[in-house]
Amino acid sequence: MFLEKNNYSRNALLNKTILLTGGGGGIGYEASRAFSYMGANVIIAEIDTEKGRHTQGLINKEYGNDNVDFFQIDISDGKQIDELYKYIMEKHTHLDVIVHNAAVVPMGAIEKVSISDWDQSYGVNLRGPVLLTQKFLPSMKNTGGIIVFVPSAAVTPYMAAYEIFKSAQVELCNTLFEELSGTNIMVYSVAPGFVKTDTAISAVEIVASSLEIATDDFYKSLEEVILDVELAGVGYAVSVVNAEKYNGQMTSSYQVLIDDGLIIDNMIKQDNTQIQVDYDRLTSLFTSIVNIFFDQYQSWQKKKLFQKHFILTDFKKQMGLPADSFKKQLEALQSQSQNHQWDNILNSKEMFIKLQRFYEHQKDLLQGYEKNAVQLANDTKLLNSWIDILQDIIDIL
Ligand SMILES: NC(=O)c1ccc[n+]([C@@H]2O[C@H](COP(=O)([O-])OP(=O)(O)OC[C@H]3O[C@@H](n4cnc5c(N)ncnc54)[C@H](O)[C@@H]3O)[C@@H](O)[C@H]2O)c1
Repeated sequence: MFLEKNNYSRNALLNKTILLTGGGGGIGYEASRAFSYMGANVIIAEIDTEKGRHTQGLINKEYGNDNVDFFQIDISDGKQIDELYKYIMEKHTHLDVIVHNAAVVPMGAIEKVSISDWDQSYGVNLRGPVLLTQKFLPSMKNTGGIIVFVPSAAVTPYMAAYEIFKSAQVELCNTLFEELSGTNIMVYSVAPGFVKTDTAISAVEIVASSLEIATDDFYKSLEEVILDVELAGVGYAVSVVNAEKYNGQMTSSYQVLIDDGLIIDNMIKQDNTQIQVDYDRLTSLFTSIVNIFFDQYQSWQKKKLFQKHFILTDFKKQMGLPADSFKKQLEALQSQSQNHQWDNILNSKEMFIKLQRFYEHQKDLLQGYEKNAVQLANDTKLLNSWIDILQDIIDIL
Protein backbone atom coordinates (compact mmCIF):
# COMPACT_ATOMS: atom_id res chain seq x y z
CA MET A 1 0.00 0.00 0.00
CA PHE A 2 1.17 3.49 -0.93
CA LEU A 3 0.88 4.94 2.59
CA GLU A 4 2.65 1.96 4.11
CA LYS A 5 5.51 2.25 1.62
CA ASN A 6 5.85 5.89 2.57
CA ASN A 7 5.81 5.07 6.30
CA TYR A 8 2.81 7.35 6.74
CA SER A 9 1.66 7.62 10.34
CA ARG A 10 -0.82 4.90 11.37
CA ASN A 11 -2.21 7.40 13.88
CA ALA A 12 -2.67 10.36 11.56
CA LEU A 13 -6.47 10.24 12.05
CA LEU A 14 -6.61 8.01 15.10
CA ASN A 15 -10.17 7.59 16.41
CA LYS A 16 -11.60 10.26 14.12
CA THR A 17 -15.08 9.30 12.96
CA ILE A 18 -15.46 9.64 9.22
CA LEU A 19 -18.57 9.27 7.10
CA LEU A 20 -17.71 8.45 3.50
CA THR A 21 -20.60 8.19 1.06
CA GLY A 22 -20.32 5.79 -1.88
CA GLY A 23 -17.37 4.05 -0.29
CA GLY A 24 -18.24 0.62 -1.69
CA GLY A 25 -16.13 0.85 -4.83
CA GLY A 26 -13.90 2.98 -7.03
CA ILE A 27 -12.14 5.90 -5.35
CA GLY A 28 -14.34 5.53 -2.25
CA TYR A 29 -12.94 2.06 -1.62
CA GLU A 30 -9.36 3.37 -1.69
CA ALA A 31 -10.31 6.35 0.47
CA SER A 32 -11.90 4.02 3.06
CA ARG A 33 -8.72 1.96 3.01
CA ALA A 34 -6.54 5.02 3.56
CA PHE A 35 -8.75 6.32 6.39
CA SER A 36 -8.70 2.91 8.05
CA TYR A 37 -4.89 2.73 7.71
CA MET A 38 -4.64 6.10 9.47
CA GLY A 39 -6.61 4.78 12.44
CA ALA A 40 -9.96 6.45 11.76
CA ASN A 41 -13.37 4.87 12.29
CA VAL A 42 -14.92 4.85 8.85
CA ILE A 43 -18.63 4.55 8.14
CA ILE A 44 -19.17 3.60 4.52
CA ALA A 45 -22.61 4.93 3.54
CA GLU A 46 -23.34 3.03 0.36
CA ILE A 47 -26.46 2.07 -1.59
CA ASP A 48 -25.06 -1.23 -2.84
CA THR A 49 -25.10 -3.71 0.05
CA GLU A 50 -22.92 -6.28 -1.68
CA LYS A 51 -20.19 -3.77 -2.53
CA GLY A 52 -20.40 -2.12 0.88
CA ARG A 53 -20.10 -5.36 2.84
CA HIS A 54 -17.35 -6.63 0.56
CA THR A 55 -15.30 -3.45 1.00
CA GLN A 56 -15.83 -3.46 4.74
CA GLY A 57 -14.68 -7.09 4.99
CA LEU A 58 -11.64 -6.60 2.77
CA ILE A 59 -10.31 -3.56 4.59
CA ASN A 60 -10.97 -4.89 8.08
CA LYS A 61 -9.09 -8.04 7.09
CA GLU A 62 -6.20 -6.11 5.52
CA TYR A 63 -5.44 -3.99 8.59
CA GLY A 64 -7.12 -6.00 11.32
CA ASN A 65 -8.30 -2.69 12.81
CA ASP A 66 -11.96 -3.59 12.56
CA ASN A 67 -12.59 0.14 12.21
CA VAL A 68 -14.61 0.04 8.97
CA ASP A 69 -18.37 0.06 9.34
CA PHE A 70 -21.02 -0.18 6.64
CA PHE A 71 -24.45 1.44 6.54
CA GLN A 72 -26.73 0.69 3.62
CA ILE A 73 -28.39 3.90 2.46
CA ASP A 74 -29.75 5.85 -0.46
CA ILE A 75 -28.35 9.29 0.38
CA SER A 76 -31.03 11.07 -1.63
CA ASP A 77 -33.65 9.95 0.92
CA GLY A 78 -34.08 12.20 3.96
CA LYS A 79 -35.66 9.47 6.14
CA GLN A 80 -32.70 7.16 5.57
CA ILE A 81 -30.36 10.01 6.48
CA ASP A 82 -32.27 10.44 9.76
CA GLU A 83 -31.62 6.74 10.46
CA LEU A 84 -27.95 7.08 9.57
CA TYR A 85 -27.66 10.05 11.91
CA LYS A 86 -29.25 8.07 14.75
CA TYR A 87 -26.97 5.11 14.06
CA ILE A 88 -23.80 7.23 14.09
CA MET A 89 -24.75 9.18 17.19
CA GLU A 90 -25.61 6.02 19.13
CA LYS A 91 -22.55 4.08 18.05
CA HIS A 92 -19.90 6.82 17.78
CA THR A 93 -21.48 9.72 19.75
CA HIS A 94 -20.32 12.31 17.19
CA LEU A 95 -19.05 12.74 13.64
CA ASP A 96 -15.74 14.44 12.77
CA VAL A 97 -15.70 14.30 8.97
CA ILE A 98 -18.13 13.90 6.06
CA VAL A 99 -16.76 13.09 2.60
CA HIS A 100 -19.44 13.56 -0.06
CA ASN A 101 -18.07 10.97 -2.47
CA ALA A 102 -21.17 9.06 -3.71
CA ALA A 103 -22.28 9.85 -7.23
CA VAL A 104 -24.35 8.66 -10.13
CA VAL A 105 -23.27 9.53 -13.65
CA PRO A 106 -26.13 9.64 -16.17
CA MET A 107 -24.66 9.98 -19.64
CA GLY A 108 -25.94 11.34 -22.92
CA ALA A 109 -27.06 14.46 -24.74
CA ILE A 110 -29.24 16.81 -22.71
CA GLU A 111 -32.41 15.97 -24.62
CA LYS A 112 -31.74 12.23 -24.48
CA VAL A 113 -31.24 11.78 -20.72
CA SER A 114 -34.62 10.89 -19.21
CA ILE A 115 -36.06 13.27 -16.67
CA SER A 116 -36.02 10.50 -14.07
CA ASP A 117 -32.23 10.21 -14.58
CA TRP A 118 -31.92 13.98 -14.18
CA ASP A 119 -33.94 13.70 -10.96
CA GLN A 120 -31.79 10.84 -9.69
CA SER A 121 -28.63 12.79 -10.45
CA TYR A 122 -30.00 15.78 -8.55
CA GLY A 123 -30.93 13.42 -5.70
CA VAL A 124 -27.53 11.78 -5.31
CA ASN A 125 -25.16 14.49 -6.54
CA LEU A 126 -26.74 17.50 -4.85
CA ARG A 127 -29.77 16.73 -2.66
CA GLY A 128 -27.86 14.03 -0.75
CA PRO A 129 -24.92 16.29 0.16
CA VAL A 130 -27.36 19.04 1.22
CA LEU A 131 -29.41 16.64 3.38
CA LEU A 132 -26.33 15.13 5.04
CA THR A 133 -24.80 18.54 5.67
CA GLN A 134 -28.05 19.86 7.16
CA LYS A 135 -28.40 16.82 9.38
CA PHE A 136 -24.88 16.73 10.83
CA LEU A 137 -24.07 20.44 10.93
CA PRO A 138 -25.79 21.28 14.24
CA SER A 139 -23.88 18.59 16.16
CA MET A 140 -20.64 19.39 14.30
CA LYS A 141 -20.98 22.98 15.47
CA ASN A 142 -20.53 21.65 19.02
CA THR A 143 -17.64 19.31 18.36
CA GLY A 144 -15.92 20.81 15.29
CA GLY A 145 -15.67 19.04 11.99
CA ILE A 146 -14.60 18.83 8.37
CA ILE A 147 -16.90 18.64 5.33
CA VAL A 148 -15.31 17.54 2.06
CA PHE A 149 -17.00 17.83 -1.33
CA VAL A 150 -15.88 15.92 -4.40
CA PRO A 151 -16.25 17.96 -7.59
CA SER A 152 -15.64 16.87 -11.13
CA ALA A 153 -14.24 18.69 -14.16
CA ALA A 154 -16.05 21.45 -16.00
CA VAL A 155 -19.43 20.76 -17.59
CA THR A 156 -18.73 18.59 -20.63
CA PRO A 157 -20.96 17.64 -23.59
CA TYR A 158 -22.89 14.40 -23.02
CA MET A 159 -22.24 14.59 -19.25
CA ALA A 160 -24.40 17.58 -18.38
CA ALA A 161 -26.90 15.61 -16.27
CA TYR A 162 -23.99 14.70 -13.97
CA GLU A 163 -21.61 17.65 -14.19
CA ILE A 164 -24.24 20.34 -13.63
CA PHE A 165 -24.96 19.02 -10.13
CA LYS A 166 -21.26 18.57 -9.45
CA SER A 167 -20.69 22.23 -10.34
CA ALA A 168 -23.56 23.10 -8.02
CA GLN A 169 -21.79 21.07 -5.31
CA VAL A 170 -18.78 23.39 -5.63
CA GLU A 171 -21.05 26.41 -5.18
CA LEU A 172 -22.60 24.67 -2.18
CA CYS A 173 -19.13 24.17 -0.73
CA ASN A 174 -18.10 27.80 -1.36
CA THR A 175 -21.26 29.20 0.17
CA LEU A 176 -21.06 26.87 3.15
CA PHE A 177 -17.49 28.04 3.75
CA GLU A 178 -18.68 31.64 3.92
CA GLU A 179 -21.58 30.79 6.23
CA LEU A 180 -19.29 28.77 8.51
CA SER A 181 -16.41 31.21 8.67
CA GLY A 182 -15.41 31.79 12.27
CA THR A 183 -16.79 28.40 13.36
CA ASN A 184 -14.79 25.25 14.09
CA ILE A 185 -15.95 23.57 10.88
CA MET A 186 -13.72 23.41 7.82
CA VAL A 187 -15.15 23.00 4.32
CA TYR A 188 -13.36 22.38 1.05
CA SER A 189 -13.47 20.39 -2.21
CA VAL A 190 -11.04 17.74 -3.46
CA ALA A 191 -11.21 16.79 -7.14
CA PRO A 192 -9.76 13.32 -7.64
CA GLY A 193 -8.54 13.95 -11.20
CA PHE A 194 -9.43 11.49 -13.95
CA VAL A 195 -9.41 8.03 -12.40
CA LYS A 196 -10.06 4.90 -14.43
CA THR A 197 -12.85 3.43 -12.31
CA ASP A 198 -15.53 1.35 -14.07
CA THR A 199 -17.88 4.34 -13.96
CA ALA A 200 -15.29 6.68 -15.49
CA ILE A 201 -14.27 4.18 -18.18
CA SER A 202 -17.83 3.74 -19.42
CA ALA A 203 -18.38 7.52 -19.31
CA VAL A 204 -15.31 8.07 -21.51
CA GLU A 205 -16.50 5.48 -24.02
CA ILE A 206 -19.84 7.25 -24.38
CA VAL A 207 -18.36 10.78 -24.62
CA ALA A 208 -15.63 9.71 -27.05
CA SER A 209 -18.06 7.93 -29.37
CA SER A 210 -20.57 10.82 -29.17
CA LEU A 211 -17.80 13.25 -30.13
CA GLU A 212 -16.57 10.76 -32.76
CA ILE A 213 -13.12 10.62 -31.18
CA ALA A 214 -11.16 7.38 -30.75
CA THR A 215 -11.18 6.33 -27.07
CA ASP A 216 -7.36 6.24 -26.99
CA ASP A 217 -7.16 9.79 -28.32
CA PHE A 218 -9.65 10.86 -25.70
CA TYR A 219 -7.48 9.32 -22.98
CA LYS A 220 -4.44 11.10 -24.44
CA SER A 221 -6.26 14.41 -24.03
CA LEU A 222 -6.76 13.54 -20.36
CA GLU A 223 -3.17 12.41 -19.81
CA GLU A 224 -2.22 15.29 -17.53
CA VAL A 225 -5.07 14.68 -15.09
CA ILE A 226 -5.12 10.88 -14.98
CA LEU A 227 -4.44 9.60 -11.48
CA ASP A 228 -4.14 6.08 -10.11
CA VAL A 229 -7.25 5.06 -8.13
CA GLU A 230 -5.28 4.35 -4.95
CA LEU A 231 -3.60 7.78 -5.04
CA ALA A 232 -6.94 9.48 -5.68
CA GLY A 233 -8.40 7.86 -2.54
CA VAL A 234 -5.29 8.47 -0.46
CA GLY A 235 -5.55 12.13 -1.56
CA TYR A 236 -8.93 12.45 0.19
CA ALA A 237 -7.49 11.03 3.42
CA VAL A 238 -4.32 13.14 3.39
CA SER A 239 -6.44 16.25 2.71
CA VAL A 240 -8.33 15.55 5.95
CA VAL A 241 -5.03 15.29 7.86
CA ASN A 242 -4.04 18.72 6.52
CA ALA A 243 -7.58 20.17 6.37
CA GLU A 244 -6.61 23.58 7.73
CA LYS A 245 -4.54 24.21 4.62
CA TYR A 246 -7.53 23.61 2.33
CA ASN A 247 -10.33 25.31 4.23
CA GLY A 248 -12.43 27.29 1.73
CA GLN A 249 -10.48 26.03 -1.26
CA MET A 250 -10.77 23.63 -4.13
CA THR A 251 -7.82 21.31 -4.42
CA SER A 252 -7.09 17.95 -6.04
CA SER A 253 -5.87 14.60 -4.76
CA TYR A 254 -2.69 15.10 -6.78
CA GLN A 255 -2.00 18.52 -5.27
CA VAL A 256 -2.70 17.25 -1.76
CA LEU A 257 -0.11 14.48 -2.20
CA ILE A 258 2.45 16.95 -3.53
CA ASP A 259 1.78 19.32 -0.62
CA ASP A 260 2.40 16.50 1.86
CA GLY A 261 5.63 15.51 0.09
CA LEU A 262 4.24 12.09 -0.89
CA ILE A 263 4.76 12.60 -4.61
CA ILE A 264 6.81 14.98 -6.68
CA ASP A 265 5.18 17.11 -9.30
CA ASN A 266 6.15 16.11 -12.85
CA MET A 267 7.14 19.66 -13.55
CA ILE A 268 9.43 19.77 -10.51
CA LYS A 269 10.93 16.47 -11.61
CA GLN A 270 12.42 18.25 -14.60
CA ASP A 271 15.98 19.13 -13.81
CA ASN A 272 15.80 22.87 -13.27
CA THR A 273 19.55 23.21 -13.77
CA GLN A 274 18.97 22.32 -17.43
CA ILE A 275 16.89 25.44 -17.89
CA GLN A 276 18.86 28.59 -18.53
CA VAL A 277 16.86 31.17 -16.63
CA ASP A 278 17.32 34.88 -17.13
CA TYR A 279 16.77 35.85 -13.48
CA ASP A 280 16.72 39.60 -14.13
CA ARG A 281 13.88 39.15 -16.58
CA LEU A 282 12.15 36.71 -14.23
CA THR A 283 12.39 39.24 -11.39
CA SER A 284 11.03 42.04 -13.52
CA LEU A 285 8.07 39.97 -14.81
CA PHE A 286 7.29 38.60 -11.37
CA THR A 287 7.40 42.09 -9.84
CA SER A 288 4.96 43.36 -12.49
CA ILE A 289 2.58 40.47 -11.81
CA VAL A 290 2.70 41.08 -8.06
CA ASN A 291 2.11 44.82 -8.47
CA ILE A 292 -0.80 44.27 -10.85
CA PHE A 293 -2.46 41.82 -8.49
CA PHE A 294 -1.86 43.92 -5.36
CA ASP A 295 -3.33 47.03 -7.05
CA GLN A 296 -6.30 45.02 -8.23
CA TYR A 297 -6.77 43.48 -4.77
CA GLN A 298 -6.74 46.96 -3.19
CA SER A 299 -9.33 48.21 -5.66
CA TRP A 300 -11.58 45.21 -4.89
CA GLN A 301 -11.50 46.10 -1.19
CA LYS A 302 -12.95 49.53 -2.01
CA LYS A 303 -15.91 48.17 -4.00
CA LYS A 304 -19.45 48.21 -2.64
CA LEU A 305 -20.37 45.15 -0.56
CA PHE A 306 -22.29 43.17 -3.19
CA GLN A 307 -19.85 43.90 -6.02
CA LYS A 308 -16.89 43.03 -3.81
CA HIS A 309 -18.56 39.79 -2.83
CA PHE A 310 -19.21 38.92 -6.49
CA ILE A 311 -15.60 39.60 -7.51
CA LEU A 312 -14.04 37.69 -4.60
CA THR A 313 -16.37 34.72 -5.08
CA ASP A 314 -15.62 34.66 -8.79
CA PHE A 315 -11.88 34.88 -8.11
CA LYS A 316 -12.06 31.93 -5.76
CA LYS A 317 -14.08 29.92 -8.23
CA GLN A 318 -11.62 30.55 -11.04
CA MET A 319 -8.41 30.26 -9.02
CA GLY A 320 -9.45 27.56 -6.54
CA LEU A 321 -8.46 29.64 -3.51
CA PRO A 322 -9.58 32.89 -1.86
CA ALA A 323 -7.96 36.15 -3.00
CA ASP A 324 -6.55 36.64 0.54
CA SER A 325 -4.73 33.31 0.39
CA PHE A 326 -3.46 34.02 -3.11
CA LYS A 327 -2.12 37.37 -1.93
CA LYS A 328 -0.29 35.62 0.92
CA GLN A 329 1.20 33.14 -1.56
CA LEU A 330 2.46 35.98 -3.73
CA GLU A 331 3.89 37.77 -0.68
CA ALA A 332 5.77 34.62 0.33
CA LEU A 333 7.16 34.22 -3.20
CA GLN A 334 8.06 37.90 -3.27
CA SER A 335 10.12 37.67 -0.12
CA GLN A 336 11.82 34.52 -1.44
CA SER A 337 12.70 36.26 -4.71
CA GLN A 338 14.15 39.18 -2.74
CA ASN A 339 16.44 36.63 -1.07
CA HIS A 340 17.26 35.08 -4.47
CA GLN A 341 15.45 31.85 -3.58
CA TRP A 342 13.95 30.85 -6.90
CA ASP A 343 12.79 27.25 -6.46
CA ASN A 344 9.19 28.02 -5.54
CA ILE A 345 8.80 30.61 -8.30
CA LEU A 346 10.27 28.20 -10.84
CA ASN A 347 7.69 25.64 -9.72
CA SER A 348 4.74 28.05 -9.89
CA LYS A 349 3.99 27.71 -13.61
CA GLU A 350 0.53 26.21 -12.90
CA MET A 351 -0.32 29.16 -10.69
CA PHE A 352 0.62 31.68 -13.41
CA ILE A 353 -1.38 29.71 -15.99
CA LYS A 354 -4.42 29.86 -13.69
CA LEU A 355 -3.99 33.61 -13.16
CA GLN A 356 -3.73 34.09 -16.91
CA ARG A 357 -6.98 32.14 -17.34
CA PHE A 358 -8.57 34.33 -14.67
CA TYR A 359 -7.66 37.47 -16.64
CA GLU A 360 -9.00 35.87 -19.84
CA HIS A 361 -12.22 35.20 -17.93
CA GLN A 362 -12.33 38.82 -16.69
CA LYS A 363 -11.97 39.93 -20.29
CA ASP A 364 -14.98 37.79 -21.27
CA LEU A 365 -17.05 39.21 -18.42
CA LEU A 366 -16.06 42.74 -19.41
CA GLN A 367 -17.48 42.33 -22.92
CA GLY A 368 -20.87 41.65 -21.30
CA TYR A 369 -21.11 44.37 -18.66
CA GLU A 370 -19.03 47.34 -19.90
CA LYS A 371 -21.37 49.43 -22.05
CA ASN A 372 -19.02 52.39 -22.56
CA ALA A 373 -17.06 51.63 -25.75
CA VAL A 374 -13.98 53.71 -24.82
CA GLN A 375 -13.77 52.21 -21.35
CA LEU A 376 -14.25 48.74 -22.82
CA ALA A 377 -11.38 49.27 -25.28
CA ASN A 378 -9.08 50.61 -22.54
CA ASP A 379 -9.88 47.86 -20.04
CA THR A 380 -9.52 45.15 -22.69
CA LYS A 381 -6.11 46.55 -23.66
CA LEU A 382 -5.04 46.58 -20.02
CA LEU A 383 -6.16 42.98 -19.46
CA ASN A 384 -4.38 41.92 -22.66
CA SER A 385 -1.16 43.47 -21.36
CA TRP A 386 -1.49 41.49 -18.11
CA ILE A 387 -2.16 38.31 -20.08
CA ASP A 388 0.98 38.98 -22.15
CA ILE A 389 3.13 39.48 -19.05
CA LEU A 390 1.86 36.19 -17.69
CA GLN A 391 2.57 34.50 -21.01
CA ASP A 392 6.17 35.79 -20.82
CA ILE A 393 6.71 34.33 -17.36
CA ILE A 394 4.99 31.05 -18.35
CA ASP A 395 7.37 30.79 -21.32
CA ILE A 396 10.39 31.22 -19.04
CA LEU A 397 9.31 28.58 -16.52
N1 LIG B 1 -13.45 8.59 -11.59
C1 LIG B 1 -13.19 9.81 -12.02
O1 LIG B 1 -12.44 10.01 -12.98
C2 LIG B 1 -13.76 11.02 -11.31
C3 LIG B 1 -13.45 12.29 -11.80
C4 LIG B 1 -13.96 13.40 -11.14
C5 LIG B 1 -14.76 13.24 -10.02
N2 LIG B 1 -15.07 11.97 -9.59
C6 LIG B 1 -15.92 11.84 -8.41
O2 LIG B 1 -15.30 10.96 -7.49
C7 LIG B 1 -16.30 10.23 -6.77
C8 LIG B 1 -16.05 8.75 -6.89
O3 LIG B 1 -16.01 8.39 -8.26
P1 LIG B 1 -15.84 6.89 -8.75
O4 LIG B 1 -15.32 6.93 -10.13
O5 LIG B 1 -15.11 6.12 -7.71
O6 LIG B 1 -17.37 6.46 -8.82
P2 LIG B 1 -18.05 5.02 -8.55
O7 LIG B 1 -19.25 4.97 -9.43
O8 LIG B 1 -17.06 3.92 -8.66
O9 LIG B 1 -18.49 5.14 -7.03
C9 LIG B 1 -19.65 5.85 -6.64
C10 LIG B 1 -20.28 5.08 -5.49
O10 LIG B 1 -21.46 5.79 -5.08
C11 LIG B 1 -22.44 4.81 -4.77
N3 LIG B 1 -23.79 5.41 -4.84
C12 LIG B 1 -24.48 5.72 -5.95
N4 LIG B 1 -25.69 6.20 -5.62
C13 LIG B 1 -25.77 6.20 -4.27
C14 LIG B 1 -26.76 6.58 -3.35
N5 LIG B 1 -27.95 7.03 -3.75
N6 LIG B 1 -26.49 6.46 -2.03
C15 LIG B 1 -25.30 5.96 -1.61
N7 LIG B 1 -24.32 5.59 -2.44
C16 LIG B 1 -24.54 5.70 -3.76
C17 LIG B 1 -22.24 3.74 -5.83
O11 LIG B 1 -22.84 2.51 -5.49
C18 LIG B 1 -20.72 3.68 -5.88
O12 LIG B 1 -20.19 2.74 -4.99
C19 LIG B 1 -17.63 10.66 -7.37
O13 LIG B 1 -18.17 11.70 -6.58
C20 LIG B 1 -17.26 11.20 -8.73
O14 LIG B 1 -18.18 12.17 -9.17
C21 LIG B 1 -14.59 10.86 -10.21
